[in-house]
Amino acid sequence: PIILSQTSFISRDDLTYPFEERGLQFGDGVYEVIRIYQGSYYLLTEHIDRLFRSADAIKIELPFSNQEITSLLQELLSKNAITEDGIVYLQATRGSAPRNHAFPDDTPANVYAYIREMPRKLQQLTNGVAAITHRDTRWENCYIKSLNLLPNVLAKQEAQENGCYEAILQKDGLVTECSSSNIYLVKDGHIYTHPATNHILHGCVRMRVEQFAADLEIPFMEEAFSVDAIADADELFLSSSTSEVMPVVEIDGEPVADGKPGKITRQIQEVYETDAN
Ligand code: PDD
Repeated sequence: PIILSQTSFISRDDLTYPFEERGLQFGDGVYEVIRIYQGSYYLLTEHIDRLFRSADAIKIELPFSNQEITSLLQELLSKNAITEDGIVYLQATRGSAPRNHAFPDDTPANVYAYIREMPRKLQQLTNGVAAITHRDTRWENCYIKSLNLLPNVLAKQEAQENGCYEAILQKDGLVTECSSSNIYLVKDGHIYTHPATNHILHGCVRMRVEQFAADLEIPFMEEAFSVDAIADADELFLSSSTSEVMPVVEIDGEPVADGKPGKITRQIQEVYETDAN
């Protein structure tokens, strides 16, 4: 496989970093995961815009313009001749320098991107998934897609140890998002989700879900809902580039409503399907 390293294309095996690398030592960087369907990117512009927002927020200067990285990623795709479904993972760190918390002088960012095949999760998209609730122990700047994912990793691991797909994060009784996805509650024909503040990642799929809801004339309420409200929910679903629009049918061992994917979830899934193809 060919990967993107800085602004060049190299063989995957040729990428090496010094052990004093700020992504490795401090998690001092940002990343994106972009979906590929049948050899084409989905929501590429949205992801690249967010990459620049994240990098700006932590003062990392990217070695390319928005247009340059767009064409580099397109070139990466054609060099790898991927025709199936997959993802591209891209990360940018503050670079390689002797370990010191403060920013190093005159150090270029380290950037790489690679493509990996990833089939759609068709069975789970059809049947729905189970989730646990978990305390949101993250920092105040969750809108930055930072490499610091320890709270997310620990929450997801706990979900997995409980036989679940995701961990729904709650702060002071209110649901923010999940360990690696956004989440929505459906009640009386309305979709509720946490507003796009600093407490959640502003998901690219979330942006589309808002648009799909508008197209379907389903009220989209950017209001945080409580963990307790899940017991009365009609439907629950989550979204991300890798999970798409995923029904959540069980929470902490209890069924959500009748324990089956709901009607509005199905409608949003259908529009997603059309949009992504
Ligand atoms: N995660 N919230 C969190 C905390 C996330 O990590 C993600 C994505 C999302 C959904 O964002 P989007 O719709 O842009 O994919 C929400 C990626 C897939 C990951 O870390 O693998």
